[in-house]
Amino acid sequence: MPGDPDLGEQKIRWAESRMAVLAGVRERFARERPFAGLTISAVLHIEAKTAVLARTLRAGGARVLLAAGNPLSTDDDVVAALNRGGIETRARKGESTEEYRAAVVAMLDADPEVIIDDGADLVALAHTARPDRGKIRGSTEETTTGVTRLRALEREGQLRFPAIDVNDAEMKHLFDNRFGCGQSVLDGLFGATNLLIAGKVAVVAGYGWSGMGIASRLRGLGAEVVVTEVDPVRAIEARLEGFRVVPMLDAVRSADLIVTATGNRDIVRAEHFRVMKSGCLLANAGHFDIEISKPDLEGLAVARRVVRPGVEEFTFADGRTVCLLAEGRLINLATGQGHPVEIMDLSFSLQALSAELIALHGRELAPTVHAVPRAIDRAVAEAALAPLGAAIDVATPAQRKYAQSWKEGT
Ligand code: NAD
Ligand code: ADE
Repeated sequence: MPGDPDLGEQKIRWAESRMAVLAGVRERFARERPFAGLTISAVLHIEAKTAVLARTLRAGGARVLLAAGNPLSTDDDVVAALNRGGIETRARKGESTEEYRAAVVAMLDADPEVIIDDGADLVALAHTARPDRGKIRGSTEETTTGVTRLRALEREGQLRFPAIDVNDAEMKHLFDNRFGCGQSVLDGLFGATNLLIAGKVAVVAGYGWSGMGIASRLRGLGAEVVVTEVDPVRAIEARLEGFRVVPMLDAVRSADLIVTATGNRDIVRAEHFRVMKSGCLLANAGHFDIEISKPDLEGLAVARRVVRPGVEEFTFADGRTVCLLAEGRLINLATGQGHPVEIMDLSFSLQALSAELIALHGRELAPTVHAVPRAIDRAVAEAALAPLGAAIDVATPAQRKYAQSWKEGT
């Protein structure tokens, strides 16, 4: 069913009214028009905050095209509002894999100078479907999994244009992955199930930036949180935060809820399903829907049925059941509303400023993965202080001199 553009506009305006850092960027872009005459193609989760980013880029003079970052992460009302306002958006919640791929191809066919990616699907397509770089000046990447894919291209000497790693900027992963996932994964769980968190045994797979946020917020709501890891340092960090850390094969026996956030595959698989506690809820926060093995689940189940929107129950031969949420896709965007507005204000301000860097200087940059310049990271942090209710001290001249003397080793 097509979305309602008026409702979409309302959602966008609400987000826009609370995205103070991006508002500052937009005002400057409107004056300076850094994207005049340029096309920006973006593959992003299309919801209200993404629309605010798209309008910010357009204020800077760009023709902006959007495709979805995931078949289930689209808000159709927002798509309708964007299309009405002239931002070409090709996405539909629940679109098929073919529709998803065709939309990504359309982003490339628009011959963009700048690419904004979340997961590196558009960059990957640009590398396989185009023999040369075309007009592309470079790309920016939003998420951990996308950066992993870019680094693989770079290692193999295949990367053909510069790519800015937005994910690893301090003002991104410290807040988006951690506090963003912490809140929005719970939003997704609530949306899908309407069940109580308190008193449940919740297993979080992966104690990286996203996993630590999710574990912390689940504990805050009264769950008994267990962590699984493959990295001994991350495992000890989780342990010293007070979480039990055990192998997945042990954890599944008492789990009421499992959330995967690893960026890896087959974290929950056949050997786990065979001994999993009946009734267990399975959710994924990682980028791809491969963390909970759907082929294994489908192979072992003797029956399956949708029990409410976003919840599918699988029954095993011995009568046990488990519930897969949101088809194992990003729970926070599929059955939740994505990260909180104030968090996406930070991430998307970094995206807008990194896109500007590519537009203005992409042709001079080496075809490698580049960090977000420290000046951009700091500028976003400084602009975010007041909106987030913080104010800092200014070092005195004597303090600056003292700190400097240590840096210089005098
Ligand atoms: P990260 O690298 O900080 O953490 C991943 C952790 O998973 C690491 O500690 C790693 O050791 C662990 N891990 C890997 N394989 C494992 C296994 N087999 N069992 C247990 N633990 C394992 O990455 P991150 O930034 O937390 O991102 C994780 C995933 O979430 C990525 O796919 C990323 O793209 C995605 N992500 C999603 C959202 C969202 O909105 N849903 C937001 C940010 C990141
Ligand atoms: N909303 C838009 N993009 C998002 C992302 N990458 N993660 C969470 N929420 C989002």
